[in-house]
Amino acid sequence: MSGLELEDINVWLNGQKILHDVNISIAKGECVALLGPSGCGKTTTLRTIAGFIHPQAGDVRISGQSCVDLPPNRRNVGLVFQDYALFPHMTVAQNVGYGLRMRKRSDSESEKLVHQFLEMVQLDHIKDRMPQSLSGGQRQRVALARALVIKPDILLLDEPLGALDRKLRDQMQVELKQLQKQLGVTTIIVTHDQEEALSLADRVAVMFGGKIREIGTPQSLYDRPKHRDVMDFLGSSNLFRCTVTHVSGDGVTVSGPGGFQTVLNRTDFQLNQNVLVGIRPEHLSIECAVPDSPRASVSGTVHETVYKGSLMEVLIKTTDDHIFRAAVSPRSVTPGQIESGTAISLVLEKDFIQIFQD
Ligand SMILES: Nc1ncnc2c1ncn2[C@@H]1O[C@H](COP(=O)(O)OP(=O)(O)OP(=O)(O)O)[C@@H](O)[C@H]1O
Ligand SMILES: [Mg+2]
Repeated sequence: MSGLELEDINVWLNGQKILHDVNISIAKGECVALLGPSGCGKTTTLRTIAGFIHPQAGDVRISGQSCVDLPPNRRNVGLVFQDYALFPHMTVAQNVGYGLRMRKRSDSESEKLVHQFLEMVQLDHIKDRMPQSLSGGQRQRVALARALVIKPDILLLDEPLGALDRKLRDQMQVELKQLQKQLGVTTIIVTHDQEEALSLADRVAVMFGGKIREIGTPQSLYDRPKHRDVMDFLGSSNLFRCTVTHVSGDGVTVSGPGGFQTVLNRTDFQLNQNVLVGIRPEHLSIECAVPDSPRASVSGTVHETVYKGSLMEVLIKTTDDHIFRAAVSPRSVTPGQIESGTAISLVLEKDFIQIFQD
């Protein structure tokens, strides 16, 4: 059953088209992360779902029911927005109970629910404090309890953990994921933190210029994106121009910088066509001798190395001036192997090579 559907949503604001035919269908209880560059329309999409923006065209359906003509307070949506601060003149418990009072729940029912949800976010012991006296993480948890206590059909989170430091963020991510699954609430989370999106969500949607470009499971989107801009946007990648130099029943041979050549099992490319080939840095490994078996490899010299703790980034420059980025385990290389100027070969894991129309 579908928890939330957006169908052909088009939004203009101040005469400018902001959302273009946005379509998305989210199952009940599913968590989808919305990713994309600043200004691509993520917040606008959430505001449209919540009912603060009425789309010029398209439909919003919650549990199969159209709600596009309903005001925000008639949609059962919980919000934790970037700019949706706690009410400063209310205690923690009053903040959490706000939505229940608006919905005219009895005092005793409200009190019980507020207690239950404050316990769930582990804040029951500070229910009488004012928001100013809380830490950033505590405030986020109050905002989350306030959004969840109304038992929303849809939970919309816009950068909910944006203000927290790394450690607290990691901890809150785990808590958020547990709460979301425990309550089974259909959720859309907007975040700039890609790792957060990949770890929290059942599916990730990548948006550019007011359109959803691609949606898929975190792993399929990361490992096998269908669009080069999605590959480029998510994580880091090597994207390089190649030419189709041979076409046969086995597929296409593509050739590119640093002597790169490989056969890919694809039939949708033509001889002499320019293509873009992509591979993630972690799918390149370093070989100090040119491999003698015909593997997908490139040759060059070490240009620079960057130590990043759990991994080492090695930049390799080919004779035709292309830079490849490999991410290897620091333990897998000796200092001599990666000294600047050393001749080196990189082997590309063939299963992870992506090819795109140029
Ligand atoms: N009320 C408005 N009137 C006119 N244009 C607007 C309005 N609100 C947003 N926009 C424009 O719509 C576009 C999308 O904005 P939106 O806030 O949805 O982006 P976003 O993806 O959430 O970005 P960020 O990651 O920076 O939060 C932007 O170009 C923005 O300037
Ligand atoms: Mg935004």
